[in-house]
Amino acid sequence: MRKTLIAGNWKMHGSKASIEALLNGIKQQLDAAWTSDLLVCPPSLYMDGVSQQLSDTPITVGAQNMSEQEQGAFTGEISGDMLQDFGVDYVLVGHSERRSLYHESNELVARKFAKALEQGLKPILCIGETLEERENGSTMDVVKQQVDAVIDFYGDRSTGLNKLAQGVIAYEPVWAIGTGVTASPEQAQEVHASIRRYLAETKQTVADTIQILYGGSMKAANAEQLLAQQDIDGGLIGGASLKADEFIAICKIAG
Ligand code: PGA
Repeated sequence: MRKTLIAGNWKMHGSKASIEALLNGIKQQLDAAWTSDLLVCPPSLYMDGVSQQLSDTPITVGAQNMSEQEQGAFTGEISGDMLQDFGVDYVLVGHSERRSLYHESNELVARKFAKALEQGLKPILCIGETLEERENGSTMDVVKQQVDAVIDFYGDRSTGLNKLAQGVIAYEPVWAIGTGVTASPEQAQEVHASIRRYLAETKQTVADTIQILYGGSMKAANAEQLLAQQDIDGGLIGGASLKADEFIAICKIAG
């Protein structure tokens, strides 16, 4: 049985004041009966403060990005060890905004994934196709290449699958991110199931156990149908995670 994970990706939003208000709003409405894992990924400068504010809650803190390097002369970068030092548990790697705006290649994302694991963090590997790729029928080719980059990093496919299984996958169709256009539950389920089938070709246990989140304009109004799909194990939520009531409503649906 796979656990549900609800993760908020705050991107480059917020201020000390707005984050405090958001966290207060969330904390007031948390329900001890929920069993899903809950995560927020604030901008890095705020992560420590957010961890402290959430220390009496089950919500964990994740980073939105990290360096593939260990340490050294890499101006502006943050290492996995630094994230560890601040009690960060998860890190997003390969978010589509990183891939498209900052030219992160599949190979670089794979190196970040591997470095995150090495440094004791749980990477959330973000994958997904653009609208053009969907329309020309290459969704699964794109998604497979993104997953394979991580597996192939380890040389041997079986080892790569075992490493992949230590992280989480987030399927986020690029055309659904921040657009208000969500993949239909059927569209999302189809890709999630195909990813599992693909992984099962090498390792059934990994296919059965790895968490695959959906992301792309998930909100309270569509979360129920999306989360009801057999192969969707949670959500990576951008815009709606910045509103306490919306985020809480999604957490409640996840239960
Ligand atoms: P969105 O963002 O929910 O605002 O579409 C999701 C994401 O980018 O992770």
